[in-house]
Amino acid sequence: MHVVSGKIACQRCHGNIEEMDEVYQFADLSMGWCVNCHRETKVQFADNNYYSIFQKYHQEIKEGKRTDVKVSDIGGLECQRCHY
Ligand code: HEC
Ligand code: HEC
Ligand code: HEC
Repeated sequence: MHVVSGKIACQRCHGNIEEMDEVYQFADLSMGWCVNCHRETKVQFADNNYYSIFQKYHQEIKEGKRTDVKVSDIGGLECQRCHY
C-alpha cells in the first residue's frame, strides 16, 4: 500500500539508509507516527482505480471544492484499519 500505491520513498520511513555507516532505527514506529503521517499525506488518488469508488471526492475535485484527499479522509485514522 505504502510503496506501490502510495509511492512513498523508503527513506521517508527508514531515513537516508544509503548514507548510514551502520543502520539504525530512524522513526519511532509509534502509533502517533503512523497517524500523523496519515493526517498530512495525500493519497495518490487521481489515476488509481482502487479509489474510483470515492465518487464524492472525485466530484468535489472536479468542481474545484477540494484540492486533495489525505489518508485520513479515506479512513486512515480508523482504529480497525490497523488493529483489525
Ligand atoms: C510517511 C507517511 C506514512 C506513514 C509514516 C505511515 N503511513 Fe500508512 N499510508 C500512507 C499513505 C500515503 C497511504 C495511502 C496510500 C495510497 O495512496 O494508496 C497509507 C495507507 C495505509 C493503509 C491502508 C488504508 C486503506 O485501507 O486504504 C494502512 C492500513 C496503513 N497505511 C497503515 C499504516 C501503519 C500501521 C503505519 C505505522 C506503522 C503507517 N501506515 C505509517 C502514509 C503513511
Ligand atoms: C510507510 C512507511 C514505510 C515505507 C514507505 C517503507 N517501510 Fe520498510 N518498514 C516499515 C515498518 C513500520 C517496518 C517494520 C519495522 C519493525 O517491525 O521494527 C518496516 C520493515 C522493513 C524491513 C525489515 C527490517 C527488519 O528488521 O526485519 C526492511 C528490510 C524494509 N522495511 C525495507 C524497506 C524498503 C526497501 C522500502 C522501500 C521500497 C521500505 N521499507 C518502505 C515502514 C516502511
Ligand atoms: C495508522 C495505524 C493505526 C491506527 C489508525 C490506530 N492505531 Fe493504535 N497503534 C498503531 C500502532 C503501530 C501501535 C503500536 C505502537 C507501538 O508499539 O509503539 C498502536 C498501539 C495502540 C495501543 C497501545 C497498545 C499497547 O500495547 O500499549 C492502543 C491502546 C491503540 N493503539 C488503540 C487505538 C485506537 C483506540 C485507535 C482508534 C482511535 C487506534 N489505535 C488507531 C497503529 C494504529
